[in-house]
Amino acid sequence: MPPAGDAVHPGAATPVAIVVDGERVSGILGQTIAGIIMAQDVLRLRDSREARPRGVFCGIGVCFDCLVTVNGVSDVRACQRAAVEGDEVLTGVDAPMGFVGEDATSVGRGRSEQGDVES
Ligand code: FES
Repeated sequence: MPPAGDAVHPGAATPVAIVVDGERVSGILGQTIAGIIMAQDVLRLRDSREARPRGVFCGIGVCFDCLVTVNGVSDVRACQRAAVEGDEVLTGVDAPMGFVGEDATSVGRGRSEQGDVES
């Protein structure tokens, strides 16, 4: 089977470089932003409003603990976004998506257009 068609041994990896908080880091094309960051032994992607560190929790796009800013777009789930050459990533984003707390009851609540918290 040719290497390109072999899912187990797909052949040579294509490198990709992104900038995380001003520092250039490398990964493999197809990796998520979270994957590249975690490969640098960095687990914290942001802090909650209660100043508790948050990073990859579910890894499947459900918990929103991994939110970062990518190329100026906030609230990007790092575990779901494949890295693209030259992406500029900012970690440490506070108040993602208007979430107001860490308990399960706050998940899914967002800000209305007026900035108020919806219940
Ligand atoms: S780790 Fe849960 S959404 Fe990314």
